[in-house]
This record gives sequence, structure tokens and C-alpha cells, in this order.
Amino acid sequence: MSQEHESLENLLQENRRFPPSPQFAAQANAKPEIYERAERDRLAFWEEQAGALTWEKKWDAVLDWQPPYAKWFIGGKINASVNALDRHVAQGRGDRVAFYFEGEPGDTQTITYAQLLTEVKKAANALIEIGIKAGDRVAIYMPMIPEAAVAMLACARIGAPHSVVFGGFSADALLSRIQDADAKLVITADGGFRKGAAFALKPAVDEALKGQHNVEKVLVVQRTKQETAWTDRDIWWHDIVGRQSTEHVAESFDSEHPLFILYTSGTTAKPKGIFHTTGGYLTQVAYTHKAVFDLKAESDIFWCTADVGWVTGHSYVVYGPLINGATQVMYEGTPDTPHKGRVFEIIAKYGVTILYTAPTLIRTWMKWGDEFPKAHNLHSLRLLGSVGEPINPEAWMWYRDVIGGNRCPIVDTWWQTETGAIMISPLPGVTATKPGSAMKTIPGISAQVVDENAVPVGNGRGGFLILDKPWPAMLRGIWGEGARYKETYWSRFPGIYFAGDGAKLDDEGAIWLLGRVDDVMNVSGHRISTTEVESALVSHEAVAEAAVVGAADAMTGQGIVAFVILRTGIAHADGVALLTELRNHVAKQIGAIAKPRQILVVNELPKTRSGKIMRRLLKDVAEDRKVGDATTLADPNVMALISQGLKSAKDED
Ligand code: WTA
Repeated sequence: MSQEHESLENLLQENRRFPPSPQFAAQANAKPEIYERAERDRLAFWEEQAGALTWEKKWDAVLDWQPPYAKWFIGGKINASVNALDRHVAQGRGDRVAFYFEGEPGDTQTITYAQLLTEVKKAANALIEIGIKAGDRVAIYMPMIPEAAVAMLACARIGAPHSVVFGGFSADALLSRIQDADAKLVITADGGFRKGAAFALKPAVDEALKGQHNVEKVLVVQRTKQETAWTDRDIWWHDIVGRQSTEHVAESFDSEHPLFILYTSGTTAKPKGIFHTTGGYLTQVAYTHKAVFDLKAESDIFWCTADVGWVTGHSYVVYGPLINGATQVMYEGTPDTPHKGRVFEIIAKYGVTILYTAPTLIRTWMKWGDEFPKAHNLHSLRLLGSVGEPINPEAWMWYRDVIGGNRCPIVDTWWQTETGAIMISPLPGVTATKPGSAMKTIPGISAQVVDENAVPVGNGRGGFLILDKPWPAMLRGIWGEGARYKETYWSRFPGIYFAGDGAKLDDEGAIWLLGRVDDVMNVSGHRISTTEVESALVSHEAVAEAAVVGAADAMTGQGIVAFVILRTGIAHADGVALLTELRNHVAKQIGAIAKPRQILVVNELPKTRSGKIMRRLLKDVAEDRKVGDATTLADPNVMALISQGLKSAKDED
């Protein structure tokens, strides 16, 4: 073991520090004492956070923990939609803008809290008319339009757990999710706008519903007005919602009432239905949104670029920000339509103050070039966030410099669909950040980095990231699969939640996420993170993006194979010299042990629609196997191109 872990110790030397400015620190929501307060009495701390919500009945006990099953705020009664909407209107904030919606074609909507509440009440009444009752599951398959949030909140309002299926998933994927949750209703749209054209969604629903299911009705929002095939079970949203009463008094539900199911891929082919309940989830998303993003509801314009089809869209577009009364931007389309400066144009147009996005987009912007952000006024920004994968120091520095003008703190937030809310992150007014580190657990959360015997590794060492105390927003299980829940999360270290991520503590105890442990390679008995090799490659001026896999190697166990996208303008004509230089660059950054065995220049990397690189597929290519299931790729042709490229590279060898 020690050998494997030792190799992590010297992999990354990062000495840069970015403390918050005194001005930022002085106005920050979270001050240094918050860590102490949470440390002193964790449960009292969480009670205090829950107290910021509106409960119809207060809880009798904070926590019931029968590992691996937790219940939070037991006996409490609460309604998610009331917390997101009614209370703001009741307290005189009805005229505040909830969403500035920007459609891809340039159409806009400004929706106040009062208007959003009215829409949600009407939609809730429509669901009741259709026959949806508390506990019934509703599948939501929509583009990124305001009705997606309205649909989620209407379900929550009547206690019907929603299962949002990302609009980019296929009919098959939709059907398997409809079946697994046994949904009674599907809410969809005729289509949406993406990359300059209308795409259709409803045909995929029709296709899915040719399979076995218990769906009774399909509610269809009209977004694009394209020709849409119709059946008896279909209802136009505007027909049924349009004629509903604007009155609906929400009933409160038990704190542990299921709020939603969200499917995520696991190690097997069958997606896991991660399910979350109400009181604890709402408490943690609201608290983290306020503390980590430093939200000032009266003045900030918050923009989280995630689609509602992912957990980030659930927690930091719908529930967290609305509970906190935030004003947000919601954008329907892609960041390069109609031009590569679209995101920056929107930031300038609405005066966005807080931007929360993903490293993959940040690196894409780097690849496109600085001229796009530089053409727009980004001075309104005061805080930047990152989520979804480890952010390499190079991208972090670029984000800080080019997007944040060297004045905005960056919060690199680690969490998962399973954790429901942010777990590890700097606090922007407190933490002196290091580029590429998520730093430490937020107040109220406890994590450890341990070795294979669950022994904490100590500073300067790497191991497995575990969460050793229950937290309010934790998943309550895998829908319908109790055994799989225990097996997946609680068996690697009996009774302890294993996140599936590798992490390293630096000499000062800051946490560096190293990617999924299945992405950690083992070369000659040394454990090396794909993330760190990628980060080293991307720190070379010629490289825009890199993906690294460990390929089976008869000599060393695994060999490092890297796939790189070069920056625009870098010629690959003198390819061999450049590849040697890159291999040496990695060796210089990390050590000879991390020198890639092979580097292949590619034009695209295989990514899921949420932007995650599918290393599994690259591994198939690197190991000369038939490429596995690529159905969740955003662009299914990418793999064929990469395989061809690899073959010709081998011929050159
Ligand atoms: C990875 C997204 C490093 C990690 C919210 C985790 C991160 C998985 C970070 C969950 C981060 C997410 N730094 N890695 N800041 N954030 N991850 O369920 O591997 O889509 O286990 O949730 O993304 O992905 P999920």
C-alpha cells in the first residue's frame, strides 16, 4: 500500500495562494467563526440552518441515524414550493425577478416571484385535475425553459416526487427511467432550441411510450411550435394549465417525504435512481447556496449554467437559489450559438455577479481564445464557482484572470448527485484558495481521506475520500434497490460512505480531488491520477484539453495513454517533436513515472452530454478492444474518429 500512496505525495506542488480581499471578507455571509460554531455542536448547527426555512410544524428530533439510513428533522412538516415561492410573496418580495430567461434564438422572459408562484399554483392544479396524488412519480423531460422549473415545483407542491430526465437522453434511456420509477405522468415539450435550430423532444417520448409502462398522460409544453404528432393521452400544457385557478393552498409533507429521484450512471449498465427527501435536502441546498456563493438576494444576479437534468440544476437553479430569493439567469442554448461569446454577452447584459459553471466549459473557452471574453464587459462578476470534475490549476488561473479579472474568489465545489448539495469547498470570504484544490469540508460536513483499511492517511498523502458522518442532503437510497444502495456506497468501508473519488491531502491538509478511483492508474505499482497527468498536459501551452487512461501493459501493469486536443493555431505538422516535448513536459511536472506511454492528438474527446469525458471508451481504444457502449455520448461519431487516428498513429510508429 505505502508504495502506491507514496507516489501521490510529490505529484503536485502548488504554492500559489489567493486569500479573499479584505473588502470581500468584510461583507461575506460566512465569517471564520462559522467553522467553530459547526464544530462545537454539529447538530445544533444544522438545526440553526433548518431554522432559516419555513416549516408548518417544527421537527421533534434533528437526526435518527441507523447506518446507512438517516432521517433528518424528524416529525417536521414542510412544503418545498412554499419555501421557494409563497413565503417570498407573502413577505412582500413578489415583484423581485426570479428568472431572466434567455432563449437561444434571443427571445426573453422576465419572471417575478409572484408570477412564478401563480404559474406553479396553476400547474399544481392541473396535475391534480390529471389525477396526480402525493407519492405518484412524474417524469420530466424538457429543454432548459422556465416551465421545467415550474413543473418541478408544481410536483413538489403536491408531494409528487419528480424524476427529471435530461433532454439529451434517448428514448430508450427515458423509457428505462420511466419504468424504474413507475412514473404515471410525463411532462415534456414539443422541442427546444439548440445550436441555432429547433430540436424535437416529443417524438422521443412517443417512442419511449411504445414500451411497457403505466404512464397515463403526457403533458406537452409548446416551445418551438413545430409540427407535433398527437395521441389521446397527450395534453397541451397551455390548454390545461392555462385554464386553472390561480389559487392553490399547499399542504405540508413530512420532512422525510421523497422530493425527487435523479438517475446517475454507476459501474453497471443500469442507472441508479438516487432519491432525496425534503427537509434535510432543502436545508443543505439553501445553506450552501448562501454560504458558498455568498448570495445577497437583493443585489446579486446568480447564474448557474447547469441544465435542470443534472443535480446541479436541481440544487443550484431550482431549490437553493429560489429558497434564498435569488434573481437568476436561465439560458436555453449552447455557449457557441450564435457566437462563441454568447455566455459573456449574457453576463454583460444582465450584470451577472455570480457565475457557477464546469471546468469543461472553462477549458473550452480557453481553447477558443481570450478574444471572446475580452470583447464583453464582465465587471459585474464578483464570485466564480466550478463543479463537476477536478479543475486543473491552469484552467483555474485562466478563470480567475480572464473571466474574474483577478478580483473574484473562486469556489471549487465538490459534491455528487448522491450528496445532494455542496460538501467540500472554500468559503469565499474566509479561505485562502489554492488553484485546483476544493480545500476543505464546509462547516457541518465531515470527510476523511483514508487508506484501504479506512485509516486516515494524514497530510501529504493520498487515498480514498469518505464521508464519515451523515449529512442532511444525503441520498436516502437507490429507488427500489435497497441492497444495491448498501453494496455501492457502504460496503467498501463497512458502515462508511465511500464517495468513489480519490483525494490527496497536501502538507497543510487541503483536499485535492483526484478523480474517480477507477480513473486512478497503477503504473509499476505506483498510483497515478489521470487527473494530474491531464492537468500537467493542459499546463503546456500547446494543449487545450487532455484525457488520460491507464491501459493494460504487460511490463508495468498499466501504461499511461493520453489523448490531447491542441489549441487553435498550434500546428501538428511537426507532430513527433511536439509529442516528445509533451511527454517530457509531463515528466517534468510530475515525475518520470507519469510520462505517458503514448500521446494521441485528436480533434474531439468522447463526452457525455453533461460534459464528462468517457474514459472507459478511450481505455477500450487504448487497449485495442472493441469500443463499448457509447450510447450516452453527445456525439457518437467521436469514437470512430479516435480509433482511426490511433491506427494511423500506430502505422507511423
Ligand atoms: C466529480 C456533480 C473534483 C467527482 C455535482 C464526483 C468533482 C462526481 C467536483 C459527481 C470537484 C464533482 N472536483 N471532482 N469540484 N465536483 N466532481 O453526481 O468525481 O454528476 O464523484 O455530481 O463528479 O458527479 P455528479
